[in-house]
Amino acid sequence: MTKKVKTPPETCPHCEGTGYIIADDGARPCQCSREAELERACRRARIPRKFLGKTLQAFKATTTAKRQIVALAGDYLRNFPRRESQPSERGLLLVGREGTGKTHIAVAILRGVIEKGCSGLYWNVPELFLELRRIINGEGESTEADIFDEARKADLLVLDDLGAEKTSEYVLDRLYVLINGRYENDLATVITTNRSIEELRQQLGPRIVSRICEMCVPVEFPEGDYRLQNLR
Ligand SMILES: Nc1ncnc2c1ncn2[C@@H]1O[C@H](COP(=O)(O)OP(=O)(O)OP(=O)(O)O)[C@@H](O)[C@H]1O
Ligand SMILES: [Mg+2]
Ligand SMILES: [Zn+2]
Repeated sequence: MTKKVKTPPETCPHCEGTGYIIADDGARPCQCSREAELERACRRARIPRKFLGKTLQAFKATTTAKRQIVALAGDYLRNFPRRESQPSERGLLLVGREGTGKTHIAVAILRGVIEKGCSGLYWNVPELFLELRRIINGEGESTEADIFDEARKADLLVLDDLGAEKTSEYVLDRLYVLINGRYENDLATVITTNRSIEELRQQLGPRIVSRICEMCVPVEFPEGDYRLQNLR
């Protein structure tokens, strides 16, 4: 099987690999160098490789509910950052079963926010705690403080798959610190979860979930696993 290889910038037909277009009024960056820079920024924001190309345009809005989700995500992006808005409108809580497109939409928003020049960061919550465990065991590359500082400051933080992490006192304590930090600084957080609010409350406790509910507009994803569509 041959893998599709992206055209490297040096073969760009518009700029012949220089990364710049020279016009009468001066030089401007070629589209190819802007795209390459956006991709680097998305990687720095920890967007997983598989999700680098996931945009709102790539999300197939085949039903009314999905069209509404794309419209809401588009509005959210256009208005970002919305400091003067109600706290409850600053973030999104994307709720739904597996394979319904929650991570796709969260990453598409994050990508758009980065494209606007804001800072963004993606963490899959179980991964975050695996990384923290590696650090505690002396194996990680950064420190716990570095990770939390970065996650507490980003203009947009995506917390993917909340509720899929194994809970412990340590996990609950750190999640509280992180979410409370976002809450106190009025920063935007997009959270995805397979759990209902009630299940999250049982798992994470009322104080974390109460803050999430105040910070985020809930968005329900309709059932239907996109990953299984080839089987239908
Ligand atoms: N409407 C859609 N149009 C195009 N691609 C989609 C759509 N819905 C889902 N996908 C794709 O299907 C795959 C699964 O979607 P995604 O990972 O976003 O699901 P999820 O809701 O986050 O699932 P989970 O809860 O299991 O993490 C991804 O590759 C995503 O891009
Ligand atoms: Mg997901
Ligand atoms: Zn070019």
